Amino acid sequence: MTQASSYRIAWLPGDGIGRDVTEQALAVLRAVAEASGFALHVDEQLIGGAALDETGVPFPDATCEACLDADAVLLGAVGGPKWDANTGAQRPESGLLQLRKALGAFANLRPVSVPDALADASPLRSEIVAGTDLLIVRELTGGIYFGEPRGRTGDEAYNTMRYSEAEVDRIAEVAFAWARKRRGHVTSVDKANVLVVSQLWRDVVTRVHAERHADLSLEHLYVDNAAMQVVRRPRDFDVIVTGNLFGDILSDLAATLPGSLGLLPSASVGGPVGLFEPVHGSAPDIAGQGKANPIAAILSGAMMLDELGRPEAARAVRHGVEAALAEGYRTADLWREGLTYASTDEMGARIRDHAVQFINQVPA
Ligand code: IPM
Ligand code: MN
Repeated sequence: MTQASSYRIAWLPGDGIGRDVTEQALAVLRAVAEASGFALHVDEQLIGGAALDETGVPFPDATCEACLDADAVLLGAVGGPKWDANTGAQRPESGLLQLRKALGAFANLRPVSVPDALADASPLRSEIVAGTDLLIVRELTGGIYFGEPRGRTGDEAYNTMRYSEAEVDRIAEVAFAWARKRRGHVTSVDKANVLVVSQLWRDVVTRVHAERHADLSLEHLYVDNAAMQVVRRPRDFDVIVTGNLFGDILSDLAATLPGSLGLLPSASVGGPVGLFEPVHGSAPDIAGQGKANPIAAILSGAMMLDELGRPEAARAVRHGVEAALAEGYRTADLWREGLTYASTDEMGARIRDHAVQFINQVPA
């Protein structure tokens, strides 16, 4: 595969700590690009509350066009108390949902692993979480987030959890493809004991397995049970495939395994342009104070490099994160006595230096 010599990144810092963490991610990406001999062209655009304030909508046309025109999109976070009274399409979060839809990014990949250096950072016992390495494959452009009808009339409100066979088939295919590259095991999570939409989900996943991936292993769990098993025996999970809402909830839960939501990256793929964003939110209470953990955003950058066909650069970034953690650097979310406190920028710089050193050490 021939590699491009430059890539266009649409940068959407959004709200709260979104800018703090994606600035660090960009600094790391730029440094590894330079050390590896390729260039990044970054185009900053508005989304979320920042876009509402400036343009009156959370997902301006200019942002949409710039994203569709880019090779990849790096997003920070959206939302905050300032816009809490907003409803419907005037909410900052609506901007993010519109972006995901516009990009056709139906497959949201959320890897969760516990680096050795963090085995004792979890609220769960280290012997339970050590060695965890799972991937949540969350359906991102369907389900109850987008289903119609929805509305609020009089003293009632309703949403619709809706999936077509084709939507379930394509996300199941993504999950099995990842399992094939990993440890060959898929857990499909639903609520088929209650919801008819989950019965269709389960039927389709079962069929995709039987017809195309019978050599891999598949189990089904109800979402309530899955929530318990993920914290009881996280190491048993390889790939978890689930719908939009269940995936949203399970991924925050899974963040307890490495000990902080500030560690979890994500990639949303399946359309013409990939979207890369930390799993955490905008944390407005700590924005601009140097307290945010940039690792989730930086690792989202590593997923971007993989997707752009730059796996060596991605490896260097992941090495940078591991090395900075191994030498004891911790941001506010993970710091305790005996470790070295690092601000958002200091953590980013440490990771960047390690990543660049790694590239310069490896003979070309
Ligand atoms: C996430 C977030 C978003 C979601 C919000 C901000 C719309 O919680 O990416 O997990 O629910 O998908
Ligand atoms: Mn979420």
